[in-house]
Amino acid sequence: MKILAIESSCDDTAAAVVEGRKVLSSVLASQTEEHAKYGGVVPEIASRRHSDNIVCLTEAALKNDDLTLNDIDAVAVTFAPGLIGALLVGVNFAKGLAKSLEKPLIPVHHLRSHIAANYLSHQELKPPFLALVVSGGHSHIVKVSDYTSFEVLGQTRDDAVGECFDKTARAMGMPYPGGVYLDKAAEEGDPNAFSFPHPKVSGNALDFSFSGFKTAVINTLHNASQKGVEINTKDMSASIRRAAVDMLLKNFLAASKEHNINKLVIAGGVSANLLLRRKLTALSDKGYEVYMPDLKYCGDNAAMVGAQALYEFEAGNIADMSLNAVATMPIEKVDF
Ligand code: KG4
Ligand code: ZN
Repeated sequence: MKILAIESSCDDTAAAVVEGRKVLSSVLASQTEEHAKYGGVVPEIASRRHSDNIVCLTEAALKNDDLTLNDIDAVAVTFAPGLIGALLVGVNFAKGLAKSLEKPLIPVHHLRSHIAANYLSHQELKPPFLALVVSGGHSHIVKVSDYTSFEVLGQTRDDAVGECFDKTARAMGMPYPGGVYLDKAAEEGDPNAFSFPHPKVSGNALDFSFSGFKTAVINTLHNASQKGVEINTKDMSASIRRAAVDMLLKNFLAASKEHNINKLVIAGGVSANLLLRRKLTALSDKGYEVYMPDLKYCGDNAAMVGAQALYEFEAGNIADMSLNAVATMPIEKVDF
């Protein structure tokens, strides 16, 4: 079954053709440079660029594998969660395409597709497993019992870890998206140069909190600048990265123990983080089975949407022309 998949939930417009776990074609138009001028994603600009790009990207996705629209068996689209105006561009385009081709329309949840990015990189990977979904908007520990059966075991109470990286990097003068630059700088820094308190979360011990940590970092930077003390950006980046990755893995491993699942998967933009990847890889020597997406599938892309769409289709999750975009939606229950 060849699925044409569309992604427009944030600042990347993407189209792909996927057959099972095989990517026949995957193309992407990144808007990073344009948003970098404003230090973050400007939703109105994102929607406009999606509208500008979506038709030619879809044509390119088909052309790359010498396909035409007649070869497509279904159309999949990210419909939630994300920036509402951005999502609407993809959803309306996909609806029009599915209607005119008289093919099924498959709505896909963004976080489910981030997890499915792992199926593209690991053909043998099957649920059940635990997923750490870490992006600019989410930090979730998810129990994946089956391809369309999810349970959130822990999540952030405030900022997402990607947002925490982006904001602290910005305070050090790095461009958007800061997480990428902070990770690079951290490679040459001393992770023990600065220490920050690990936040305590009452209630569910698997939940995260990054906002207090982010504020502590920003206060350290401001205090130093007021006193005219120069902070070594590489050391600060390495210290931030180590603290954040420690917090993520501490809860991820606690969830693994609590639920007796040692198959661990990471997903989302922050799964590109080099330290997180190294620490996860090291766990494979300690009895864990670990999986991470190829770097090209960590950030937003349409191939991962196509990968999840097959399982949504098999579960009967097919939409009609009333499909709408939704800004927030839990991963457990897709509602369209
Ligand atoms: O999944 P994604 O592309 O978009 C969302 O759905 O949010 O994630 C983007 C986030 C940004 O916060 C970005 O800074 C972060 O992923 N990110 C990284 C790295 N690459 C991207 N964070 C840390 N280290 C990286 N190498
Ligand atoms: Zn994403």
